[in-house]
Amino acid sequence: MKASPELHYPCSSAATVATANPSRLINRLCKHWAHKFPVRHDEQGGEITLGIGECRLRATEAGLEVRLHAANPAQLRQLQQVVADHLLRMASGEALAFAWHAGVGAAPSEEPNGLHDTRERYGRISRGFHWLMAGLIVWQFLKLGDRIDEGEHWIGQTLVPWHISIGALLLVLVVLRVVWASTQRGKRPLPAPATAALVKGGHLALYACMLLLPVSGILFMLGNGYGLEVFGVQLAAKGPEIAWAASLGSVHSPLAWLTVLLVVGHAGIALLHHLVRHDGVLQRML
Ligand code: HEM
Ligand code: HEM
Repeated sequence: MKASPELHYPCSSAATVATANPSRLINRLCKHWAHKFPVRHDEQGGEITLGIGECRLRATEAGLEVRLHAANPAQLRQLQQVVADHLLRMASGEALAFAWHAGVGAAPSEEPNGLHDTRERYGRISRGFHWLMAGLIVWQFLKLGDRIDEGEHWIGQTLVPWHISIGALLLVLVVLRVVWASTQRGKRPLPAPATAALVKGGHLALYACMLLLPVSGILFMLGNGYGLEVFGVQLAAKGPEIAWAASLGSVHSPLAWLTVLLVVGHAGIALLHHLVRHDGVLQRML
């Protein structure tokens, strides 16, 4: 699936078809074509990559919004015909009228490069969270460098001492990111149905690690009586050891290794999509 069909297909057209139940039509058409073409869909929308172009469907208050993207006018006409024929067949006798109009870009509500997420692409805020946090997390991974010469090297002396402050910052960022993601539910790009459960599980595991790493790090510090200083501000003074906090904090290191594996797998899959499948999955996060 291309991230932005307007970039790949110069010809596009759209029609809003009055119908009582647009979600049912989306569901039927997507299920029908899922046997032949790559399809993504949910209750409110669907995307089908046909051989001759792309078809995007969206349930709106006015009915069913159909957007088509093709390489040339002939293929666009063919696509209009094929999509209209199929929708009529799926409509169980309901009369559907297609008034195609040409040259449409994204709908105004879709904000092609706006702050909010769309089905085509993560918005600027989600992308900002993703890459800022990815950078900071990779920075945190440098703590593994303490295992080389007991951290007595350039990285160990310059970047790693920020570990606790950056970890605390990441805790704040992940909370904000979860709040933001919850406001974007139902608008974000959809995973391919065949791997949807795996993708959701993988992203959920990444969120769990992003949350539990700083929490366990803080418990490690407090549990071992080291206190907590974040960006020069003493949040907790050195004190007695707290056995339960220390024992929960001891998961920090194994969890960090697990996160390294997850992130390597995640980035590897993203690159695989980009370099092998050329399906625009990486572009929607860029
Ligand atoms: C997303 C945030 C974090 C990430 C990705 C992360 C990652 C790591 C990694 C990769 C290690 C090295 C583990 C090893 O050598 O086996 C480590 C160790 C450590 N981290 Fe974090 N960390 C994070 C947050 C924090 C926070 C917030 C604190 C404290 C407030 C913290 C405290 C520590 C401590 C004390 C160690 C040494 C643990 C030991 O020697 O067993 N970390 N962390
Ligand atoms: C520490 C590193 C990373 C973490 C914790 C992370 C986490 C996540 C999470 C949770 C998502 C789901 C969307 C969201 O809620 O924001 C996501 C999506 C995505 N990430 Fe990462 N990511 C990391 C690094 C990377 C890297 C290095 C790449 C590319 C090489 C990458 C490529 C992507 C792509 C393409 C998506 C969109 C996937 C889709 O729409 O199905 N990520 N990432």
